[in-house]
Amino acid sequence: MGSSELFFRGGAHESQHQSDDGQYSPKPQIRRFSLPSFPSAAAAAAAVHRLLLVLLGMAIATLLFSLLPQTTRPSYLPVSDAELRSTAALAVAGSGGWYAATEQRRMGMGSVGGKVPLGLRRKRLRVVVTGGAGFVGSHLVDRLIERGDSVIVVDNFFTGNKENVMHHLGNPSFELIRHDVVEPLLLEVDQIYHLACPASPVHYKFNPIYKTNVVGTLNMLGLAKRVGARFLLTSTSEVYGDPLQHPQVETYWGNVNPIGVRSCYDEGKRTAETLTMDYHRGAQVEVRIARIFNTYGPRMCIDDGRVVSNFVAQALRKEAMTVYGDGKQTRSFQYVSDLVEGLMRLMEGEHVGPFNLGNPGEFTMLELAKVVQDTIDLNARIEFRQNTEDDPHKRKPDITRAKELLGWEPKISLRKGLPLMVSDFRKRIFGDHNPSTDSSSTSA
Ligand SMILES: NC(=O)c1ccc[n+]([C@@H]2O[C@H](COP(=O)([O-])OP(=O)(O)OC[C@H]3O[C@@H](n4cnc5c(N)ncnc54)[C@H](O)[C@@H]3O)[C@@H](O)[C@H]2O)c1
Repeated sequence: MGSSELFFRGGAHESQHQSDDGQYSPKPQIRRFSLPSFPSAAAAAAAVHRLLLVLLGMAIATLLFSLLPQTTRPSYLPVSDAELRSTAALAVAGSGGWYAATEQRRMGMGSVGGKVPLGLRRKRLRVVVTGGAGFVGSHLVDRLIERGDSVIVVDNFFTGNKENVMHHLGNPSFELIRHDVVEPLLLEVDQIYHLACPASPVHYKFNPIYKTNVVGTLNMLGLAKRVGARFLLTSTSEVYGDPLQHPQVETYWGNVNPIGVRSCYDEGKRTAETLTMDYHRGAQVEVRIARIFNTYGPRMCIDDGRVVSNFVAQALRKEAMTVYGDGKQTRSFQYVSDLVEGLMRLMEGEHVGPFNLGNPGEFTMLELAKVVQDTIDLNARIEFRQNTEDDPHKRKPDITRAKELLGWEPKISLRKGLPLMVSDFRKRIFGDHNPSTDSSSTSA
């Protein structure tokens, strides 16, 4: 191969410029772009003018698009749930501000944070309630749905019951997930009410729940940190153990046996409080802590070993009410709607807590038995049994802090609340729907 061949770049068309006899002929002339010719100077000026107008129009359109919001959806149109879900799936990857931004778009509001201006509807929140199929949780869910929030219940149904939340199935604002909080969970939410934990001695002695309190709380705190949600822990008056101070103030550190049969619950909740404060201080998670005192009401688990449900179920079945010890130990009894109000005020308020949430009205077990007799059966019998280990002698909340900082105090007395619970228990035990025996009409 000769060097001339190496440098040959010509194509077939170039070879066409050689005549058959090998003689060179000139290349055809190349067509170049040239401005159109105008018949007159006026026509040329008009064409230039048109071109300038087109360019000006394009510039104005570009400017307008860059100033308008990045959505083609008019702000008054609702964001669909499907859109919320798909955006949520993306947002799980990390940005906690997604929901606020979406909601603000929905509300046509411009800035993140701050108070909702007067006249505008309250921001609709996405709220997780762990243990939401249980006694307290299900009443909380009712209130949150009633307020217009989207609620996700996470529950493993250990002590909870689907029936407690059945009435919300089919409501697009409600979701139910069977899940054990001991396993991690990813959800995009604004608030987490963490209730998951069996609250009755029968259950937590049967299945020690330290892991639920520790690992479950860690998982939910991790979720709160990841998505920037506010986290509320439902702790308990049991953190005071068998208190040496009466009534119990939040600053009291308690008197707890670390190795007793109740320790899995008492120490579990104390650790959960510690973890909650660690995430608050160390990871700036917004947290709230409620220390709940004995609460009663409809949907309580029947026969769960808690004193009010025990007495009511026994009196309804014409069995003797079992009083442990001499019956002089005291407790305070709070109706569930009062507690739910307190929990929601705490979540919405500015204070971390801990806050005692309970009814300061103090009753001995024998006084409670008397109220149950008056409500159900004057002839209901009482039977004394040996007291259980580590049963606290006295329990009464000091709720000064909740009164001052949350503007909260219980409204429903035991004599008003108990008939509401009795009515519910009667229906569940006997399937009794007879209005004449229905005492739920008692005004609360
Ligand atoms: N009711 C009271 O008097 C009282 C007093 C003090 C504190 N508390 C606290 O309030 C919360 C609710 O109590 P409650 O009376 O409604 O009890 P509950 O037993 O009726 O409800 C607890 C709910 O948590 C669920 N749960 C338990 N372990 C779980 C797990 N590992 N994963 C997912 N779900 C789980 C149960 O199935 C149930 O639905 C508890 O944290 C409890 O410690 C209640």
